[in-house]
Amino acid sequence: MANFSQYLKDFPILSRSVRGANRLIYLDSGATSQKPNQVIDAESNFYRTVNSAVHRGAHLLAEESSLAYESARENVANFINSQTNEVIFTKSATESLNALAYSFGNSEKGSLFYLQPGDEILVSEMEHHANLIPWQQLAKRTGATLRWIEVDGDGRLDLTSINKLITAKTKIVALTHQSNVLGTINPIKDLAKLSKNVGAIFVLDACQSVPHFQIDVKELGIDFLAFSGHKMLGPTGVGVLWGRGELLKQMPPFLFGGSMIDSVTMTEATWADIPRKFEAGVPNMAQAVGLSAAIDYLNQIGMEQIHEHEIGLTKRLLDGLLHIQGVKIIGPTDLSDRGGVVSFTVDGVHPHDVGQVLDQYGIAVRTGHHCAWPLMRKLNVVGTTRASFHLYNTDADVDKLLDSIIEVQRYFKVNK
Ligand code: ALA
Repeated sequence: MANFSQYLKDFPILSRSVRGANRLIYLDSGATSQKPNQVIDAESNFYRTVNSAVHRGAHLLAEESSLAYESARENVANFINSQTNEVIFTKSATESLNALAYSFGNSEKGSLFYLQPGDEILVSEMEHHANLIPWQQLAKRTGATLRWIEVDGDGRLDLTSINKLITAKTKIVALTHQSNVLGTINPIKDLAKLSKNVGAIFVLDACQSVPHFQIDVKELGIDFLAFSGHKMLGPTGVGVLWGRGELLKQMPPFLFGGSMIDSVTMTEATWADIPRKFEAGVPNMAQAVGLSAAIDYLNQIGMEQIHEHEIGLTKRLLDGLLHIQGVKIIGPTDLSDRGGVVSFTVDGVHPHDVGQVLDQYGIAVRTGHHCAWPLMRKLNVVGTTRASFHLYNTDADVDKLLDSIIEVQRYFKVNK
């Protein structure tokens, strides 16, 4: 097992002291990850050396920036085991999911994506807002019905009545791969198969999975996939929408303008082939190049090793939390089918207060509803405190968190 401490030096932000002389303990990678020098350098070197608008201009810089941008696409495709022309760069995972819902909503009768009253869209109670609200809105626009899979007491999808939820009426199934609150990893391969059997389109929100373990879109049997760069050590401002080629070819564009056209007259336009049909305007080239550097960095360490490392940290944290009286883990307490996201509550202390005291010790966690408000309602909590890992976290981070939770209890005089 690799010694992951060797990678800390690559992340300049981790050498900061915060709130006095505290070492920064960053446990908020579910919200956004930190960036290694390799990514920061790739993005800034793009601006320093080749910056130029891609796919236009006959000069050397245009040629070099286009090559860098298209190589980034190829790198993303290899990372998820897809065809290169199936990868579309967007601004974020949220934009990828909205673009899909918008595009489906603009589809004409007869199209595979057309929705009407009587059709159903299936999500789950554990979706974060980015994979709920676009589908809510699409249902409202088209008259389709939004349905959802409930979450059980262990923080897993309740699949006991799944055959009543995925039926001939189901047109779209949109699910998260890993819950950003509970850490639960869902059985996507099985659910994608059930969806395929009834002819439904399967959309996977991979925001919390692609950054942490190996994804193979072919093996999963899904139709569309969305994730963002900034949660996987890459820059902000770049996301990915992947779709099966034959579906992308049939899907209407969601942005119009330069680069996405084949030919234009004053009254008409036709579209370029995929992926350019979906990338109007000068794209986020430097960010795509930064994302590609992040993928190189992750690959060099190995996604399997990263996952194993994060599971080790998760085990240490779960074990520690189970031994602190008055602390409740929200989500699976065992390690099967779960990732490195751990939510908990501290009896008698509001999550924001927990977060504020932890911050005094240099610990950055996320508190609140985690953009998953319906899940909070279901769990009957106002919010949680969430620690989420990436490869730069260590056992010492976990131990400091556990010690500091006891300090939180002492501070609020709720220790038992
Ligand atoms: N990005 C949001 C999070 O922190 C949803 O989980």
